[in-house]
Amino acid sequence: MAFESFEPSLLAQALEVLERGFEHLPAARAPLDLERARQALIETAERLRDNYPYHHPLYIGQMLKPPHPVARLAYALAMSINPNNHALDGGRASSAMEKEAVAGIARMFGWDSHLGHLCGGGTIANFEALWVARELRPNQAVVASSQAHYTHRRLSAVLGADFREVPTDARGRMSVAALESMLASGEIGTVVATLGTTAAGTVDPLPSIVGLRERFDFRLHVDAAYGGYFTLASNLAPETRAAFDAIPNADSIVVDPHKHGLQPYGCGCVLFRDPAVGRFYRHDSPYTYFTSGDVHMGEISLECSRAGAAAVALWTTMRMMPLERGGEFARGLEAGREGALALHHALSADERFAPLFDPELDIVTWAVRAPTASQASAEARRIFAAAARRDLHLAVASFPRALVEGSGAVRSWDADAVACLRACVMKPEHRDWIPAIVQRLVAATVD
Ligand SMILES: Cc1ncc(COP(=O)(O)O)c(C=O)c1O
Repeated sequence: MAFESFEPSLLAQALEVLERGFEHLPAARAPLDLERARQALIETAERLRDNYPYHHPLYIGQMLKPPHPVARLAYALAMSINPNNHALDGGRASSAMEKEAVAGIARMFGWDSHLGHLCGGGTIANFEALWVARELRPNQAVVASSQAHYTHRRLSAVLGADFREVPTDARGRMSVAALESMLASGEIGTVVATLGTTAAGTVDPLPSIVGLRERFDFRLHVDAAYGGYFTLASNLAPETRAAFDAIPNADSIVVDPHKHGLQPYGCGCVLFRDPAVGRFYRHDSPYTYFTSGDVHMGEISLECSRAGAAAVALWTTMRMMPLERGGEFARGLEAGREGALALHHALSADERFAPLFDPELDIVTWAVRAPTASQASAEARRIFAAAARRDLHLAVASFPRALVEGSGAVRSWDADAVACLRACVMKPEHRDWIPAIVQRLVAATVD
């Protein structure tokens, strides 16, 4: 079997326990036409075959990590109830589980108090953080590095906020000198630091950015949608470790359980250090909040309906694998990072390739050596396609000249950017698969 097939009795046992909570009700089962359901499901399975094998270690391209089996089971279990975490009226137990899970994530970042919730993903989570920032710093600009996620510019536009890009250093990290001169203009209200950039997994120098607050007054938002959970990893380089250790100084943090938190899609998380920002969420909803005077999640989140099942899956996963250093969850992240280091090592030893940076987390990027920039791009695309024919699925990412130059991959610059190869070494199994992955990559270069 290519896919894990769960011990079916696990779900059946849990369903039985759940059902007992409602056994006093008269039977009211909706009829299901099993044969038509079977046909539709088989057709669906056939349609789903048109996908890259995201679940397999030979898929090492984009940020796609299979959810943990227990998250899938818990999600399926919650589907029998399908709670809506907007209001306690729609999802009492799952709202309580959301509060507990989110508090666990806040504690992972060293916050004993916070305001926060789950949401659709990193984009919505960053949107809420930037919206609160705009409420507190109206008419001031938002800045993020040129390697920050593209949505920061777009979200700022949606919010009517001015957005400015801070250049990076040659290693893809926000330039503190450039940030400093931008702050000196007095026009910047919010700095977005990215801990784990999307393309290369680079980590902005948070301690130095925090240090600038001694001279400049700005709000600090940490976009750790990808990298956040790495704060639990014990095998980060000292500079990267220092950046993660500075996270508690932020005003707001975003981390995506649906990236490295082993959750199905539809699970982002935003946290605010000051619970008083909850006032910005205040609204009238005369038809939803009537069964309890306790806080309903919809009173402190921007979205209305939200999947209670997402909170249930996250809570269950954290119950089985608490967010602690040295624990099983942390070891999974560490294994992926070891895989990334092993891949980087193999690429560095191969004269055909030129890695861009030492991986700070678990993303590896490399250019293909060629006389010109456009030839290097063409070669990367060719190898990408040849590797895919050998069932090795990489990604291609374009990097500006300033980030590629240091690798020495290109002799003559006939273009401003180079298409490079990229691997997100996210699965713990990747560590053991690196030799097989390198073998296929090398074979693809001569196809
Ligand atoms: C650093 C960072 N921020 C934000 C996002 C957006 O997250 P989502 O795709 O969950 O909306 C991503 C996605 O890759 C990301 O890497």
